[in-house]
Amino acid sequence: AVPDVLSGYTTVNVLSDKARVVDNSLVSDYTYENATVKRLPGGKLEVTPSKVDYNFKVDLKVPKTGLMMVGLGGNNGSTLTATILANRYGINFRSKQGLQKPNYYGSVTQASTLKLGVDEDGNDAYAPFNQILPMLHPNDIVIGGWDINSANLAEAMERSKVLDYDLQRQVAKYMAQIKPLPSIYYPDFIAANQNDRADNLIDGDSKWDHVMRLRQDIADFKQKNELEKVIVVWTANTERYAEIIPGVNDTAENLIKSIKESHEEIAPSTIFAVACILDGVSFINGSPQNTFVPGCIELAEKHKSFIGGDDFKSGQTKIKSVLAQFLVDAGIRPVSIASYNHLGNNDGFNLSAPQQFRSKEISKKSVVDDMIASNQILYNKEKGDHIDHCIVIKYVPAVGDSKVAMDEYHSELMMGGHNTISIHNVCEDSLLASPLIIDLVVVCEFFSRVSYKLAADEDAKFEQFYPVLSVLSYWLKAPLARPGTMAVNGLNKQRACLENLLRAFVGLGTQNELKLEERLW
Ligand code: NAI
Repeated sequence: AVPDVLSGYTTVNVLSDKARVVDNSLVSDYTYENATVKRLPGGKLEVTPSKVDYNFKVDLKVPKTGLMMVGLGGNNGSTLTATILANRYGINFRSKQGLQKPNYYGSVTQASTLKLGVDEDGNDAYAPFNQILPMLHPNDIVIGGWDINSANLAEAMERSKVLDYDLQRQVAKYMAQIKPLPSIYYPDFIAANQNDRADNLIDGDSKWDHVMRLRQDIADFKQKNELEKVIVVWTANTERYAEIIPGVNDTAENLIKSIKESHEEIAPSTIFAVACILDGVSFINGSPQNTFVPGCIELAEKHKSFIGGDDFKSGQTKIKSVLAQFLVDAGIRPVSIASYNHLGNNDGFNLSAPQQFRSKEISKKSVVDDMIASNQILYNKEKGDHIDHCIVIKYVPAVGDSKVAMDEYHSELMMGGHNTISIHNVCEDSLLASPLIIDLVVVCEFFSRVSYKLAADEDAKFEQFYPVLSVLSYWLKAPLARPGTMAVNGLNKQRACLENLLRAFVGLGTQNELKLEERLW
């Protein structure tokens, strides 16, 4: 009989002879088919199909998980916390539209579906993304974290002016009980205009003591809430870039030495990352700065601890990673992309300082790099191999969290013609970013339960994935990639990777759109 491999775990029953449950884990056989391309002299390309057989193993038990946010009292931190509480306690509220029920719109894991195959009539059939394998539910995430500002989360939510008053009113009693832990503040890394917020700080200025204190904070949170796993997400202010200095932050050893010497070029976000890595706690960076200096990536490799970054990909860049890819794949040649933003929240205030803006500019600009590199018909030495890509961000207090993004894509068409697409996008920034934090946590937690081995090697031990968790790139503007490899920015490619890995884990083949049921006699 064909096994019903996930019976009792999810609402999707996969009948595949390529997967089996062994000791509360799902083990699958997967043949990774790809092709190796060689560039021959004279410009010819030589392509050889390749095949590797793997076994994947997914631990089916979802652990009790905590999320600690750095920047808990910010717009994202408070909006996400209120949303989880409203969903957990089923709090309906009234807006001018009428009765609103809590939901998780904007979250891929909670509000999107993936195609399983075709039904008996040959039509595509879908299941919720989180029903193919057991995943953490956001309602079950225990929330905590740090902020340099002492406001409790009810005050923080009110300050951020994102959620409807009727919801704020009802969740306030739960929110008021959550108070951010004191954090570390090195004023040089965020805008000077944030100074007034800094009233909740860890004493002392030894950076190594800071690392040890944060490790203790995580351990205490885990113990107090009886958690099996903690994930830390940086959703604090955007920092300036840290300078990469040989001997200071270029290797794991130098980084640790520099922290012990309280070197001035070690940023708070790197201190948080190091504290997490040393204890095998996954750490995700939702802001654009280079938290993961080379020494930090090497440290994560050494400790086999997951890291992911950088910068939440919420609105403008998400569209860019679809639209620019579409244009290039359509054989149209974008020649300039001009992106304007204005926003009036504290993120915008912080980004009004030049060095913090610069971090965001770098992160927003990188998104078309791999698309340009993919098409030498459009981008080459003769025609030019870059896109004029301009980023502007302005702080306009009056618009609050409703960020305005205006983008102009100017492209070259056939025979020297031109096409200009303009996009005007307005929405509450934190309502776009908060569901991304959920997805990052759910998917990161999930992948920390996945391991693999080469099928040919019977005695090999199952290994976890490489520590730079690039499967999280879908939600990140400037995806951190394994050193030496190029980040994939295109949103559709990023999603296809996720879907196909999930399919591989349950013994289904790679997603395909051939639809031969319909196209053949
Ligand atoms: P926010 O300014 O409202 O919140 C940041 C919080 O971090 C503040 O409460 C601040 O007091 C705190 N903070 C600053 N330094 C800290 C430190 N060293 N330790 C602990 N807490 C610290 O900003 P928001 O809107 O919540 O955004 C957070 C981050 O996410 C920003 O860097 C932003 O650029 C990034 N981001 C936000 C997106 C969005 O759509 N909201 C999209 C992409 C990235």
